[in-house]
Amino acid sequence: MNKKIFSGVQPTGNLHLGNYLGAIKNFVELNNDDKNDCVFCVVDLHAITVKQDPKELRDNIRETVATFIACGINPEKSIIFKQSTVSAHSEAAWLLSCVARMGWLNRMTQFKEKAGKDKEKASIGLYSYPILMAADILLYDATHVPVGEDQKQHLELCRDIAQKFNNDYAVDDFLKVPEPLIQKEFSRIMSLKDGTKKMSKSDLSDLSRVNLTDDKDLIINKIKKAKTDPLPLPNSLNELNARPEAKNLLGIYSSLTNFTLEQSINEFSGKNFSEFKEKLSQVLVEKIDKISNEIKKLNTDKKYLDQILLDGQKKANDISSYKLKKMHEIIGF
Ligand code: TYM
Repeated sequence: MNKKIFSGVQPTGNLHLGNYLGAIKNFVELNNDDKNDCVFCVVDLHAITVKQDPKELRDNIRETVATFIACGINPEKSIIFKQSTVSAHSEAAWLLSCVARMGWLNRMTQFKEKAGKDKEKASIGLYSYPILMAADILLYDATHVPVGEDQKQHLELCRDIAQKFNNDYAVDDFLKVPEPLIQKEFSRIMSLKDGTKKMSKSDLSDLSRVNLTDDKDLIINKIKKAKTDPLPLPNSLNELNARPEAKNLLGIYSSLTNFTLEQSINEFSGKNFSEFKEKLSQVLVEKIDKISNEIKKLNTDKKYLDQILLDGQKKANDISSYKLKKMHEIIGF
């Protein structure tokens, strides 16, 4: 059976190594397999759940498309589009918000983290965001959704929403219950400044992440300054588990080189961080410098990027408007 792949990335700037290793690298592999139908969405409606500057948002949307392509996604073999240009997403989100339960949303840990202490001041959109994400996925009958570990709970909610819709309206298998595709290892890349915190675009310190637009010198400098501990690199997985920074850096190295964590531990066991960091920088520069240059080049060709989004919009609109129409019929409109 062909896999139907759907995933989304927010155009909020600073796409980083976590986005790449946790998600986009996987998009590329899935897209390279001709048996898969791939849809990749620039989720600008999700982005405005927190305040965005309109000019920056517009630039970031194009840069997200440029990043997809620079990382190796083939626009000829996939649908790449902007969420706000396909109105079925917002409409289906409303329909599904009448199916989802408050209790389910109240359990979402990402909302609690993002809203922080002042929950009352968070936007309603930030709260109901996973319902829009469910609409994204379910409109395309996606069978598989590649994401990083932080999206796992949202995908479980999406599955619950699909099942409840099918049960409530007695339409067995109408909304397809999707499978998450989360890598077993390295699906949660941590901050370079704190191995217990996720690498994130919103971290105030740029030194906490490697951005996909960073150049060689910046990457080397960030790795040099990355937090470590005073011990030499460990001899075993057991030892590594108690050392979050060492674990994160060895994880990044392993993911980039396609080694297992055990292989990387064997390569560096007993060595000091300066030697390991030099090798890590070299591997990172090899990968990211190319991507970064390509993003910068593509960014200057606005016409090309806009055309990709326009082509994608037409195709995405055909698929999703058909599914939405069926939803209307089932609901009784
Ligand atoms: P977003 O834009 O925050 O992140 C895009 C993708 O990158 C992954 N990711 C990470 N993976 C590993 N380590 C990290 N530190 C890290 N940071 C981010 C995310 O897991 C994600 O896969 N809600 C989604 C976007 C979305 C979506 C969808 C995804 C909207 N609709 C439908 C899948 C299907 C989000 O905000 O991702």
